[in-house]
Amino acid sequence: MNINVGLFGGSGKMGKAIEQILPDMKGKNKLTPFLYIGKGTSNLFSISAEKITNVEPDILKEVDVWIDFTSPEGLAELLKATEKLKTSVVSGSTGLSKKDFSKLKKMSKNRKIFWASNMSPGLWAFRQAMKSLSHISHFDFAIEEIHHTEKKDNPSGTAKTLHGDLEKIVNKKVQLQQGIRIGGVFGVHKLSAASWSEVITMQHQALNRTVFAEGALLAGNWLVSQKNSLYSMDDIFLKK
Ligand SMILES: NC(=O)c1ccc[n+]([C@@H]2O[C@H](COP(=O)([O-])OP(=O)(O)OC[C@H]3O[C@@H](n4cnc5c(N)ncnc54)[C@H](OP(=O)(O)O)[C@@H]3O)[C@@H](O)[C@H]2O)c1
Repeated sequence: MNINVGLFGGSGKMGKAIEQILPDMKGKNKLTPFLYIGKGTSNLFSISAEKITNVEPDILKEVDVWIDFTSPEGLAELLKATEKLKTSVVSGSTGLSKKDFSKLKKMSKNRKIFWASNMSPGLWAFRQAMKSLSHISHFDFAIEEIHHTEKKDNPSGTAKTLHGDLEKIVNKKVQLQQGIRIGGVFGVHKLSAASWSEVITMQHQALNRTVFAEGALLAGNWLVSQKNSLYSMDDIFLKK
């Protein structure tokens, strides 16, 4: 089956990573670069526009799945512009509030939505490994993160996800610290568990942005054959 991809946030760092790998993506369906929304024009996508509100409805309706890496405001704009069409959306935008998540949940009754704070398979495996910490819940815990200086949200969406997981696993409150912002670091997340006798350190480091872009495109390929709902990484990995 052919899947027409819409890219929202095309001129951003993640948008460029998506554009770079899209032609080489393999999967169940063929992903076709169809509509690019961002600054400038794309040589890869058939149609480019700076704003989604400038795109004719007849063109918008040709998009089968949107890939969004923008911001909470960007995601809200995308969802609004495509609400009537009920187009599937994969979003990696972080910094979403509780209210934003409730809206996503509500909207997913009428369309397929996939959201993940981190699209990398390694980070998902990290989260699974964290489950063993339930056996040492009396330890002290800390989550630290480092990202590039242009990152807008702090702590990162991934740190918030790890923090939420950890508090459930060890069944107690853990303080979440502000992240460090230096240079061009793609993303480092470190979890420490310490007693007075030993320390465990688990760390995930993204070595490029391709890992997130690949995850988002795999999710897009998978999402189009699902029923209306809100999905995340567990749905891809656990229900395979
Ligand atoms: N889930 C994951 O695996 C993952 C991985 C990496 C990054 N992220 C997240 O993805 C998002 C983008 O990251 P990035 O590094 O690509 O950031 P970036 O380089 O700043 O790019 C963001 C892009 O989104 C556009 N944008 C922002 N708000 C918008 C709006 N309201 N309407 C339309 N376009 C809008 C920006 O356009 P302008 O330049 O015109 O403002 C820019 O092109 C962030 O939330 C980041 O935390 C998630």
